[in-house]
Amino acid sequence: MRRFLHITICVALLCGLGARCVRAETGADAWLRYAPLDKSVAEKFSALPESVVVLGDSPILNSANAELIRGIRGMLVRTLREEKNLPRESAIVLGPLSALRADSPKLFEQADLHEDGFLLATEKLHGIDCLIVTGTTDRGVLYGVFALLSRIARGESVSPLHEKQQPYAPIRWVDQWDNLDGRIERGYAGPSIFFENGNVRADLTRVGEYARLLASIGINGCAINNVNANPRVLEDSFLPQLARVADVFRPWGVRLSISVDLSSPKVIGGLDTFDPADPRVAEWWRKKFDDIYRQIPDFAGVVVKADSEGRLGPATYGRTPADAANVIARALAPHHGIVFYRAFVYNHHLDWTNPKNDRAKAAYDNFHPLDGKFGGNVIIQIKHGPIDFQVREPVSPLFSGLEKTNEAIELQVTQEYTGQQRHLCFLPPMWKEVLDFDMHAGERPTPVKDIVAGKTFHRPMGGFVAVVNVGMDANWLGHPLAMANLYGYGRLAWNPNLDSKTIAEEWTRLSFGNDPAVVQTISGMLRASWPIYESYTGPLGAGTLTDILGSHFGPGVESSERNGWGQWHRADHDGIGMDRTAATGTGYVDQYSAPLAKKYESLKTTPDELLLFFHHVRYTYVLHSGKTVIQHIYDSHYEGAEQAANLVQQWKSLKGRLDEERYAEVLNRLEFQAGHAIVWRDAVCNWFLQISGIPDKLGRAGHYPDRIEAEAMQLQGYVPFEVVPRETASGGKAIECAPPARECSAAFRFDGAAGQYEMDVEYFDQNNGKSKFRVLVDERIVDEWAADDHLPAAKPGGDSSTRRRIIGLALRPGDNIRIEGVPDGAEHAAVDYIEILPSPRP
Ligand code: GCU
Repeated sequence: MRRFLHITICVALLCGLGARCVRAETGADAWLRYAPLDKSVAEKFSALPESVVVLGDSPILNSANAELIRGIRGMLVRTLREEKNLPRESAIVLGPLSALRADSPKLFEQADLHEDGFLLATEKLHGIDCLIVTGTTDRGVLYGVFALLSRIARGESVSPLHEKQQPYAPIRWVDQWDNLDGRIERGYAGPSIFFENGNVRADLTRVGEYARLLASIGINGCAINNVNANPRVLEDSFLPQLARVADVFRPWGVRLSISVDLSSPKVIGGLDTFDPADPRVAEWWRKKFDDIYRQIPDFAGVVVKADSEGRLGPATYGRTPADAANVIARALAPHHGIVFYRAFVYNHHLDWTNPKNDRAKAAYDNFHPLDGKFGGNVIIQIKHGPIDFQVREPVSPLFSGLEKTNEAIELQVTQEYTGQQRHLCFLPPMWKEVLDFDMHAGERPTPVKDIVAGKTFHRPMGGFVAVVNVGMDANWLGHPLAMANLYGYGRLAWNPNLDSKTIAEEWTRLSFGNDPAVVQTISGMLRASWPIYESYTGPLGAGTLTDILGSHFGPGVESSERNGWGQWHRADHDGIGMDRTAATGTGYVDQYSAPLAKKYESLKTTPDELLLFFHHVRYTYVLHSGKTVIQHIYDSHYEGAEQAANLVQQWKSLKGRLDEERYAEVLNRLEFQAGHAIVWRDAVCNWFLQISGIPDKLGRAGHYPDRIEAEAMQLQGYVPFEVVPRETASGGKAIECAPPARECSAAFRFDGAAGQYEMDVEYFDQNNGKSKFRVLVDERIVDEWAADDHLPAAKPGGDSSTRRRIIGLALRPGDNIRIEGVPDGAEHAAVDYIEILPSPRP
């Protein structure tokens, strides 16, 4: 302890003497860094009381107390004195409202707080100045402490203080898609923090840290395993393991939930059926939950994915989702548990040749007819759009299709279709659009946020769920800036009326400090990032043009066509888009309320960004923007790639203002993104150029004057091959150094003017080998590296295409440039092209 204090004091002194405060950071502290504040900021808090009193005793209040002491010590280098009773001098008082009733009846009466709400108030208690942190529940007190510390970290005054906050909805949950073997479905930051080798981890330290982070943004529930659930989680022998996780969550007010497989009564229960109408099945669930609650008294409930993507469900017995949800709900009800039944139910073997078929209609078709049939402790969990977390989708019509049923919106923090934390994509602006969207489901505005919170249709329960998928990577989500999405989700679940700018700035201050240049630059980058990502990946609502059959990461324009998954964009030689109108299309628009159906039915009133979701148009169709569809596709992809490159420059302007670790890590990811945006740009533009036959007016698509294609170089050992799909490599071809070759080379003569250049080597970095590369200019090695990234691909293509940038290269006409590749395993040191541009780039 002594040593810790000593180090903290030294850091504080250095900062106080004007040295820029930078310290080593792994990102593990996320937005709870509690870094020492600059002296001038710290002075604002000189009047903060010296002691803390906790009224009450519970694991959550203990967390609140410890957190307060930790935060104040970190930021202000002061250690609060812990008192059992009110001291004679001023104090910070933590406690639930009930405990304050005797000391401050006035405050007690005026507080008027709902469950989990809190009040921060400067008040006199028995004549002594106090800073009171109170709430109706202990959880509210904990949230109040986090709010107080956040204010201090952001340099906002706390004296005097009167701040009351209420959560918008009772349900503020996260889901993890963790498998029991430790892998995470759609997780991009290392293995599970919960499971390892089929069991709950022995060491749950990270779980406690995660719960603390969740509590700090008001999250009160977490389902810890994959929605594609392994029935084993319900085995008797597994329950004590779950109880260990609940024990670690409890001091942070986070309640444990699990995903369950509907066939469990049969698969692990020994019954010959899982028919929800069979009394034996009902009895099995009842007993199972009785057992669970004996071991986990505050167990929150379960998540169910059924009749979806191969999961078994009530359809096996001709029963409905309501039958299935209710049999579980009845078993949970005596314990006040909840069932989240997911509306993500659709047929993934749709006949693509039938123009009337439409996956987007599935959720509404399946659930709207059941409105009013679900038990009071069932919540229908609805993905925000009708397809699947695409970069742009309309809002799911099901939100207004259930008036007598509880609802929760499902968002995705893990960036499955939005760059997988390799690309910067700050999602709160997208979520805001959805949450604020008026469903026109009544006389007055009926935004999605009010419907899911239960306000519109007066439902007792409902709220927000996000799939997060943090992993064992120190920084939780892989990309240090991706944590802004988890933070933003929590803030919006607490208060969806916050704007994205406030959220971005708050998060930046808490995560990187209050330097105005840092706050402005990072929050600006965050806010620009979703439109940038959209512009080079998924035009005009057509969906993310990614490889939907594989990783969902790189480009794969055709992968969504001609299969049963129903993510069609129906692009052909003449045009593109799904006709979902009532007049000539699938009739999907009719699932919306009349004003919205009218708006989307007409080409004229459909917004450009959703045009191709609702209509099939010719490439020459002129958008509201005045551009043709095809030119928009070219322009947006070029602009998007340019803006992605610009993010790198913006980040570089922060060098020296941040810790080196996170600076370098983010730079690395942004440089990858800038390169991958070009891969996306070229793949999409070339595909549309080829299919439409309409050239880019600006002559960019298909023309790369600064490129030397690898297949056009002098090859030794290297052999050209066709990349599939062809648009994911320049010219459709690349070169590989396949066995028995053990080392290959590709060479060409530089014929530009003498000068300084930058050279990009576009190569393929697969996850099944670590090839080595060297670049030589006239026999001098100018760079060498290993292809050792962990991209989601075992073959050359849009997922594995990446680049190495060699800067400040002096070249003369006639120079011989040679790239040498040494393959490893199944990775054949494949190269796509080299691009040489004057340095600095024009
Ligand atoms: C997507 C995702 C799956 C996931 C599913 C779901 O389709 O790719 O991995 O299981 O959503 O939400 O259930």
